[in-house]
Amino acid sequence: MQTQTNPMSARSQQDAVRQHIRQIKERHKLPSPPVVVTKVLNILKNPDFNVRELSRVITDDPSLASKTLSMSRSPRYAKRFQPQSVHEAILVLGLQALRTIVVATAAESFLARKSKISEKLWNHSLCAALAARAIAPRVGYPDVEMAFLGGLLHDVGEMVLFNSDPRGFEQMVEEARQDDVSIVKKEAKQYGFDHSAVGVALLDYWNIDDEVSEAVLSHHKGSDNGTGSLAAIIEVADYVCARAEIGLFSELPNPGAEMIRASGCEAEATLAELVQSIRDAFDQESALFRAA
Ligand SMILES: [Fe+2]
Ligand SMILES: [Fe+2]
Repeated sequence: MQTQTNPMSARSQQDAVRQHIRQIKERHKLPSPPVVVTKVLNILKNPDFNVRELSRVITDDPSLASKTLSMSRSPRYAKRFQPQSVHEAILVLGLQALRTIVVATAAESFLARKSKISEKLWNHSLCAALAARAIAPRVGYPDVEMAFLGGLLHDVGEMVLFNSDPRGFEQMVEEARQDDVSIVKKEAKQYGFDHSAVGVALLDYWNIDDEVSEAVLSHHKGSDNGTGSLAAIIEVADYVCARAEIGLFSELPNPGAEMIRASGCEAEATLAELVQSIRDAFDQESALFRAA
């Protein structure tokens, strides 16, 4: 169902993004992921990795070990038994879900500065991840864990902008709201880049899959994103979060009519049902991602 992109425009877009990434890296100090995250992601990259080595690295980090165990014991994953060790937890979760937990830890680690905005950014990321996971099967996107990861990271650029200049970012959000201008336009004016480009620079630095990076880069392109693509799923997820009032919005995201229809969000009643199911999932799962 994905729309074909013109190879020439895709290449020139990639060149422009590369140049942006270089400039963003010069202007903003991009945070490194915690050491344990880098170690786990490196192990997972090796197709011959050893589960025992993986569980040892996770066990050595009490916070990550506790998150891994709690998640593996949640109703979504613990179908037959409750894992008693990190090793068993990894087998129950599967590698994709484990990777999501690890990346979530990295994203959360640089929101340590607690404020209303950082809470909002984190809650929005999780809400979008849950919504993307619910929307993916509706539009025939096969990888729900990838959708979850895309949703979780789509606004990671806002976290970077907030972290490098908390006061300035907060003021910019307020001005966008007062002037009734989109946050993306306001960011481009203030920083020279919007949070999509900043997010891609970070994901490039962290070495996260191209599929997620491409979706993050395009998640404000509206109906230009092919129906059923990861970027379009993230836009509908953003739309659902705006309806659930979880996030920073100065205007309602507009994923395009076809994508709204395909994801079953056209009728007010079905949209309200989806919003409620995401709120319920948020209540059930947010503590798992925040477990110390
Ligand atoms: Fe965004
Ligand atoms: Fe968003």
